[in-house]
Amino acid sequence: MLLSFGRHGGLQDLASLLALAVGAVMPLSVVAQAVPAVNEETGVSAYAFDMSQVTLSSSRWHDNQDRTLTYIKWVDVDRLLYNFRANHGLSTNDAEANGGWDAPDFPFRTHFQGHFLNAWAYCYAALKDTECRDRAVYFVEELAKCQANNEAVGFKTGYLSGFPETEIDLLENRTLSNGNVPYYAIHKTMAGLLDVWRHIGDTTARDVLLDFAAWVDERTSALSYTQMQNMMSTEFGGMNEVLADVFHQSGDERWLEVAQRFDHASVFDPLASNIDSLNGLHANTQVPKWIGAAREFKATGTSRYKAIASNAWNITVNAHSYAIGGNSQSEHFRAPDAIASYLKEDTCEACNTYNMLKLTRELWLTNPTETSYFDFYERALLNHLLGQQNPESDHGHITYFTPLNAGGRRGVGPAWGGGTWSTDYDSFWCCQGTALETNTKLADSIYFYDSSSLYVNLFTPSVLKWTKRGITITQKTEYPVGDTTTLTIAGGNGGRWTLRVRIPGWTSGATIKVNGKTVSNVDVTPGTYASVTRSWRSKDTVTVTLPMKLHTVVANDDDGIAALAYGPVILSGDYGDATLAATPTLELDTVKQVDGLEFEGTADGETVSLVPFYDAHGVNYNVYWETSGTLSA
Ligand SMILES: *[C@@H]1O[C@H](CO)[C@@H](O)[C@H](O)[C@H]1NC(C)=O
Ligand SMILES: *[C@@H]1O[C@H](CO)[C@@H](O)[C@H](O)[C@H]1NC(C)=O
Repeated sequence: MLLSFGRHGGLQDLASLLALAVGAVMPLSVVAQAVPAVNEETGVSAYAFDMSQVTLSSSRWHDNQDRTLTYIKWVDVDRLLYNFRANHGLSTNDAEANGGWDAPDFPFRTHFQGHFLNAWAYCYAALKDTECRDRAVYFVEELAKCQANNEAVGFKTGYLSGFPETEIDLLENRTLSNGNVPYYAIHKTMAGLLDVWRHIGDTTARDVLLDFAAWVDERTSALSYTQMQNMMSTEFGGMNEVLADVFHQSGDERWLEVAQRFDHASVFDPLASNIDSLNGLHANTQVPKWIGAAREFKATGTSRYKAIASNAWNITVNAHSYAIGGNSQSEHFRAPDAIASYLKEDTCEACNTYNMLKLTRELWLTNPTETSYFDFYERALLNHLLGQQNPESDHGHITYFTPLNAGGRRGVGPAWGGGTWSTDYDSFWCCQGTALETNTKLADSIYFYDSSSLYVNLFTPSVLKWTKRGITITQKTEYPVGDTTTLTIAGGNGGRWTLRVRIPGWTSGATIKVNGKTVSNVDVTPGTYASVTRSWRSKDTVTVTLPMKLHTVVANDDDGIAALAYGPVILSGDYGDATLAATPTLELDTVKQVDGLEFEGTADGETVSLVPFYDAHGVNYNVYWETSGTLSA
């Protein structure tokens, strides 16, 4: 801060100087934060911190974030604007067109750009990175120009896309034949605009978004209930979610009514009755609708919405998810409990897990005594999404599927999904878009609060500025390489509140120490929140230990097939470049710890190294084994 004062002049530095003068830890700009939502959500009993209040410290997580930030600050914004400008009759500024799923002839081009808006907004919100802010603001200004030119190109007021509005006619009259999913793309653009409005405070983003929402209202209000339901047999992303969010943000009930038009009866009705009819459905088409149901519950208090969202979560997690937390094979849900029967190259589409994490967080906020939500969140984030990004790629490139076939390898898969890692300008797959968000919001679900407590849900090196209480909490940990995390409190003037720490279901013998002494009378039962209430003083240190042990995660459909885990970490066999003809048999009684998270065991008569699956890159691996014997204690 002092260095930057030396280099630049102007208002920014005056603010920094003032902040220093009053002894504030944070720059003043943090005070002028996001635009708060007008509507108070119904049915929630815990709250997320603003993104500006939590930052990641150095770690594997931080490395992922860095790589994605490098990409979003490097990408040529004019190339990303190409399809919008071309479609709305404006000059493309001699920019080059993109390839992959943003090529000028790709049916749902511009499905991706909204994710850049989200990620730039998160980058600015969390890090006050003005480069990210400026990119978002420029992009939105250019979108506003596209939208303003609608009359000249024959589009209705408010429309905004890289494909012509006639695609919506085709969708509505059910003659759509080119595989287009226009509302799927529109949802993402709207969600991006919303984040630029609420996290950056950009009023152009607000205006473009509200005009776009009014266009959605105009189009959908002209349809009968039956026409609307028929239209929803085409993937439409989270239109109910984003419109409910526009209601929450603006307080205008009009948007809630539009959101509810996107309630898809054939998917919602069985879920409301807790019936699993997911078999055969395109998986990622459904999850955003369930997030929408959770947002609609919080807008209306209607318990049916909550039942839909929580039943969908429970069914997906318990009957359709692999050990790493992902779901789907070839993008589709299979029969309930079909796991061992679908260990293929195209398992676990990453978007589904990104969306399941959003759903998990939404549901937990309504039920913050339930630890199973964040047990799942940790499992899926750690074992699926963390390793979805290629650590060898400075631009944070990703794999679409995470193969779970014997001898699988990240960055391979069917040719239409790339068959490789994503690229700078020639992929733009859905999973590359959602990964921009995943890796720029890794700090958003570590801590939560209510009027009397602080929740610690994830064990991630980070700093929380709990500004309301004047407290800074620093979490230091090697977790999951180590089983201990330390939370150090600074400030707060002896305020009394309760620290609630998630004690995961997989641990036993957890301990909590304050200033080195075990706290008596604290219930550390696995699958509960351990609560410590006291008048906290500056420099108080809380040490949480969550002992890990080896265990198996047995496939629901075959007792003889299992993945191996140590605490929250799924371990995989490292096969280098060797191929596997069949599922190897792991002799469980031979598995022993070598060092930290490095284990070894005997599989098919050979010694195999067993390491965290999130680090299994550049090698063929094995996750699910035929098992024999039992693990030693
Ligand atoms: C459907 O919409 C398209 C695009 O506007 C139009 O060309 C076509 O005639 C419509 N078809 C029917 C059956 O209404
Ligand atoms: C959760 O889902 C599983 C698998 O479908 C089912 O057996 C169980 O009854 C469900 N639990 C609740 C509370 O609905």
